[in-house]
Amino acid sequence: MSLKEKIDILKLPEHIAIIMDGNGRWAKQKGKSRIFGHHHGVTAVRETTEAAAELGVKFLTLYAFSTENWNRPKYEVDSLMKLLVKTINNETKTLNKNNIRLLAIGDLKSLPGNCYEELNDAMRKTAANTRMSLVLALSYSSKWEILDAVKRIVKDGIKTDQIDQELFSSYLTTTGIPDPELLIRTSGEYRISNFLLWQIAYSELYFTQKLWPDFRKEDLYEAIFNYQNRERRFGKTSEQIKQK
Ligand code: IPE
Ligand code: IPE
Ligand code: MG
Repeated sequence: MSLKEKIDILKLPEHIAIIMDGNGRWAKQKGKSRIFGHHHGVTAVRETTEAAAELGVKFLTLYAFSTENWNRPKYEVDSLMKLLVKTINNETKTLNKNNIRLLAIGDLKSLPGNCYEELNDAMRKTAANTRMSLVLALSYSSKWEILDAVKRIVKDGIKTDQIDQELFSSYLTTTGIPDPELLIRTSGEYRISNFLLWQIAYSELYFTQKLWPDFRKEDLYEAIFNYQNRERRFGKTSEQIKQK
């Protein structure tokens, strides 16, 4: 039985989020520049998106560029932005063919103009697609997102007794997107790096040594299979969960 066949389609996570890490180290191992690693990361994005959509996952969020990543050398930042524009441009057709909607979260206005336009254009062109939403986290950080929400709540004059978890969630850039049940990070780093702090309050975390450019469909299956063999208790006891 293949790993894919072992996955219980009825118990799929509705939303999987991935911290795509390790492009630079992957390239370094091959004696190449970090940019080479980012280019090969696109193959992993394609494979993972396809695998998730084929299985029936409804939301796939990929952490592509963090607020902190603006602090990288200018050459790397410029190359990443160029790669982003090129990839979005190249892949929009495939997204439409596969009925996948493109969304983006983060401080999108801080992206270079052409990048912002390309992104908006692709989101518009894929807006009617219903099979899966591919969410790109760009110029995203959770602390930025939470502060931005607080500022807008105050600006809107919301009264304290109106503020509950639902209201607060609706002010986050992820509004309308369910919290991820599963969060994957590649490259053997065991940290969250300012990603979806509010939304992953009860997510299952999965870490793999694989560097992002090497991540393939089988790796996604493995993460989902691992997730499906866990008991999610949400504060209750194991006995309570089994009684259901
Ligand atoms: C992830 O790979 C891609 C981005 C953060 C843009 P890295 O570029 O962080 O690669 P490592 O972690 O240096 O290997
Ligand atoms: C996290 O990776 C951000 C993205 C994957 C886009 P980093 O490589 O920037 O994370 P740190 O700085 O090592 O924690
Ligand atoms: Mg990294």
